[in-house]
Amino acid sequence: MSQLKLKKTLVKNKIIGIIIEEIGGIHMIKKVAILANGGDVSGFNAVIRAIIKTAENNGVDCYGFIDGYNGLLKNNFVKLSTSNNSTASGILPKGGSIIGSSTNANVFNYKVVNEDGTVEYKDLSDVCVENIKKDGFDCLFTLGGDGTQKSARDFSLKGINVIGVPKTIDNDVACTEITFGYNTAVSVAAEALDRLHTTGETHHRIMVLEVMGRYAGWIALESAIAGGADIALIPEIPYDINKAVDKINERREQGKEFSIVVVAEGAAPKGGTITVANTRNNGAGVDNTKLGGVGQVVAKQLEELTGLEARNTTLGYMQRGGTPTAFDRVLSTKYGAKAMQLALDGKFGVLTVIKNGKLDYASLEDVVGNNKKIGAVSGNTEESNLRKVTMDDDLVKTARSIGICLGD
Ligand code: F6P
Repeated sequence: MSQLKLKKTLVKNKIIGIIIEEIGGIHMIKKVAILANGGDVSGFNAVIRAIIKTAENNGVDCYGFIDGYNGLLKNNFVKLSTSNNSTASGILPKGGSIIGSSTNANVFNYKVVNEDGTVEYKDLSDVCVENIKKDGFDCLFTLGGDGTQKSARDFSLKGINVIGVPKTIDNDVACTEITFGYNTAVSVAAEALDRLHTTGETHHRIMVLEVMGRYAGWIALESAIAGGADIALIPEIPYDINKAVDKINERREQGKEFSIVVVAEGAAPKGGTITVANTRNNGAGVDNTKLGGVGQVVAKQLEELTGLEARNTTLGYMQRGGTPTAFDRVLSTKYGAKAMQLALDGKFGVLTVIKNGKLDYASLEDVVGNNKKIGAVSGNTEESNLRKVTMDDDLVKTARSIGICLGD
């Protein structure tokens, strides 16, 4: 065979080989990486485990970037495996994230402290893109809330194969009916309400429980129903404290000298503002305000206006830590398995979602909504495309139907 003919044959064989690989699909993906980003939730590890297991069952190598987008920026990653005694073995019921997480890492607007102490905010996303390419990752799984998925979408525009998985206890990621971690948070809040009930009843007190929920009141609303609360104040409904007072007095007329109130941290009075505990500046696109304190404010006002003693309990990080509920273990496993399946199918730039109760996926473009500008605004800010409680939601209708006061 002449040199030229041999060359042509080799080229032809290579092309056929590539075509076969493309058609085979599963051969395209060889090496993937996971990152967990944003505030932790119960269920992170269950998602990670499901991705790894599905990857292993399909001959794909799995890695994890340490501490979310920070790990991607620093190219700090570990091999993940579920084989005996390895990194990801026995992690299903474990709280937290075995690969860490970060709440301060918008790599599109990253806080850099120079040697002289001056602070600059830089777009370092291209360093991340280089890291992914250099190490040959065929797909990046981004486990996180709206801020994380906003960056994921921006990376997808930069040519990276990204698949998101929706996380947050606040349950406010767009395009999905539920995020992993939410059910555990609601269960913890409901248990707290059961406990507050007995002490409140014994001492004839108003017991206030402040739960998380910056811009969405899902935790407050659902736990109020699950825990038999009398009043639930959520960010979506600016409250009139006098309505809560009326409800407490109505109960007193029925001989009930105690009342249970759930307040989302992001709830605000009509014409008033949210209660901020402190602020920081980690750049655009991350949580720069720490909410907290509204429970105490509400308890004090109710005490003054009703003459009953009132006590506040702030549930805080109890809602995020510890083992996931069975529901969250299953949801997280479904999400993780689906994410890896999507990668094997070559479906990128998407988020795994639950739609009409079924496992599905949505485009990251739809997830960010009108918040299109690269790296501009993400995280828990007003501009984000968050899924808030709507007044026609079954939870609102149910709460109203059984007489839970929503402060309006
Ligand atoms: O978004 C999830 C969340 O748990 C919010 O409910 C809460 O306001 C926030 O994170 C707290 O974040 P951090 O731990 O960074 O203060």
